[in-house]
Amino acid sequence: MSSIVQVTDLVKRFGDFTAVDGVSFSIEEGEVFGLLGPNGAGKTTTISMISCLLGPDGGNVVVNGHSVKTASTAVKRELGVVPQEVALYPTLSAAENLAFWGRMYGLSGTALKSAVADALVLAGLEDRSKERVEKYSGGMKRRINIAAGVLHKPRVLLMDEPTVGIDPQSRNHILETVKDLNASGMTVLYTSHYMEEVEFLCDRIAIMDHGKIIAVGTLNELRDVVGGMDVVSVSVSDVSDSTLSAVRVLAGVESADSTEGKLTVLTKSSGSILGGLVAALESEGAHVTSVTVEEPNLESVFLHLTGKSLRD
Ligand SMILES: Nc1ncnc2c1ncn2[C@@H]1O[C@H](COP(=O)(O)OP(=O)(O)O)[C@@H](O)[C@H]1O
Ligand SMILES: [Mg+2]
Repeated sequence: MSSIVQVTDLVKRFGDFTAVDGVSFSIEEGEVFGLLGPNGAGKTTTISMISCLLGPDGGNVVVNGHSVKTASTAVKRELGVVPQEVALYPTLSAAENLAFWGRMYGLSGTALKSAVADALVLAGLEDRSKERVEKYSGGMKRRINIAAGVLHKPRVLLMDEPTVGIDPQSRNHILETVKDLNASGMTVLYTSHYMEEVEFLCDRIAIMDHGKIIAVGTLNELRDVVGGMDVVSVSVSDVSDSTLSAVRVLAGVESADSTEGKLTVLTKSSGSILGGLVAALESEGAHVTSVTVEEPNLESVFLHLTGKSLRD
């Protein structure tokens, strides 16, 4: 396999703030590459530089041999982009919106007609194609937006958090669509802050935080980052900062953080810390309802590398 997208030492600053801080990764042709990170990590800014919406302050992006700095037209021809914000005309129908985008990509006549028909099938909205988009649910709009991004059959599809804030049915439809597009040969860059989606979809994953890539690899390679560690997951009534501090200093605790009634602890020896952990929580006044020991996942990798939960 050869790299179709090469990102090298990429930098973007907004005033004094560095949003993307020396990011490098490469995407092989035919893979689904995940960019996983919490809100504010710099995912959208990175995608915007790949798609030539923003110029880099340092480094470069090369797409199929074309540099974003010297050949942005050629770069854009290789790419389909599904932005975070839905960009559709509310008073036009789905078919009309798709035809609009098709014309933007230079399609016309029967080529345009068949591209729109394919896109409606892809979105699963053939039977509602003549309704105004303003009557659609958020998830349906998002599906049309994805279809618009692939109308011209790009080699590489950039998807920026395509499932945020939509219903579970549309979410599943989108995940299956990504699988199908990839099976048909399309390379996909998929950004998300949902580790389950990235685990489900991606061949390789880069984990991003504070503008930097902190780990990259296959799911198994990333799990090895926390190799030999157990993940203890405790369901517990609210965990105060002082409770968390008390847990972090317990012998055998490597890292710990809490989110939404769940305390997660990484340890090399779950057997020997459980008693002390529960006792420490109870003495801090926290009420424990369950304790389970789990396999490491991307959440644990993130916790290990940053000391905090992905969902903070
Ligand atoms: N146009 C901008 N001006 C100033 N700051 C920005 C701008 N765009 C993004 N940022 C900041 O850069 C950081 C990264 O943002 P973004 O790339 O949108 O992250 P993500 O997509 O991972 O949530 C955030 O702290 C955000 O507030
Ligand atoms: Mg974003």
